[in-house]
Amino acid sequence: MANLEVTLLQEELIEPSFLNKLRIRIKKLLSSHVAFKTRTVSLVFCDDATIRELNAKYLGRNWPTNVLSFLIEDKSFLGEIIISVSRAREESEFYGLNFENYLLALIVHGLVHLLGHDHEKGWYAPWLMLKTELKFFEKVAFRQGKEAVIKFLRRREYMPAKLAVNVDHVATVREARKAPYPDPVAAAVMVELGGADGVVVHLRLDRRHIKERDVRLIKEVIKTKLILEMAISEEFVDFAKEIKPYQVTLVPERPEEVTTEGGLELRGRVKEIKKVVKELNAAGIKVSLFLNPEEKAMELARKVGAQIVEIHTGIYAEAETEEERVKELEKVELAARVAKDLGLIVHAGHGLSYENIGPIAAIPEIEEFSIGHSIISRAIFVGLKDAVREMKELILRARGG
Ligand code: PXP
Repeated sequence: MANLEVTLLQEELIEPSFLNKLRIRIKKLLSSHVAFKTRTVSLVFCDDATIRELNAKYLGRNWPTNVLSFLIEDKSFLGEIIISVSRAREESEFYGLNFENYLLALIVHGLVHLLGHDHEKGWYAPWLMLKTELKFFEKVAFRQGKEAVIKFLRRREYMPAKLAVNVDHVATVREARKAPYPDPVAAAVMVELGGADGVVVHLRLDRRHIKERDVRLIKEVIKTKLILEMAISEEFVDFAKEIKPYQVTLVPERPEEVTTEGGLELRGRVKEIKKVVKELNAAGIKVSLFLNPEEKAMELARKVGAQIVEIHTGIYAEAETEEERVKELEKVELAARVAKDLGLIVHAGHGLSYENIGPIAAIPEIEEFSIGHSIISRAIFVGLKDAVREMKELILRARGG
């Protein structure tokens, strides 16, 4: 007979009647699976401070997490699952999910770990683990909000995503006074210290912020990768070939625009863009195309030979109603899936902020986010390093990290 030990480290964490309902469901699940049938599982509920301590002590990760699972395995004892209820509550609110079912899904996640699954080990491991998680969760889920949690679990990727930080607007402040400071070169170093996986600069036709000197020096000093955003022009292609950034992102540019207004139009330009991609690739530079979230655009990106697509999230970011936001999110989701299926690497960016990053970061096909304005704005108050770190944390959290 399956045995379940439940410990509440802080009494006020879970209401007794809900705890009872949880206990019944978990016991039902344990009794249905051969690995659990004859062993005891210990389930501990705690707060963020406790789980942070445990995460640091046993996994060397000095931050709070939602669930930890320890396989102890002796004849009668299988292992222990530790859940931060405060984190579960906060995350369920952040993702708009039913708390009871979200907490249940975290417990199931811990149980599946006890069966030996580890989403961090191996290319197919997240997929295999998710399959078992969904099977278990469907067996015991509460009715309310169940489908939304299933959808969330399906979309969540366990692989951490990268964050490339755009430092253009440090140069915007410099140019506001035509002063020698603040220097985007120093900012590039600081964002790396905050955990950025890459530095992005947009060399615009009017040089309103970033200048050639900035690009040259940033390339020299950074340890991660340089991503150069630029319009398609002979002058810029030659400059890129001289500098050799890791990646060039081709964007459209209208002289009077405040910021990039939309994705690159590939229709009718396939031959021309294919030639530019080939030229940049020949210089050892990867090419990304900034595109609206449309299936056709992804197909054309493949046709012109680009390695990467950056899906434009600006319309999602600016949506004024919840309905419009969900519609735009679904467009990004679909475009990401199509692009990945076509063998393209998927990035996303524009208008992403601390408030709207969650649902976009949970799209598993997206490997990297390109974010500038919101991070530089926050940096005015908290400093660049912390601003980057906070954004990274939100991205990792959306991935279940
Ligand atoms: N991606 C592309 C292609 C861009 O042109 C920009 C703006 O320069 C960004 C991402 C970053 O957008 P934001 O500054 O709104 O984060």
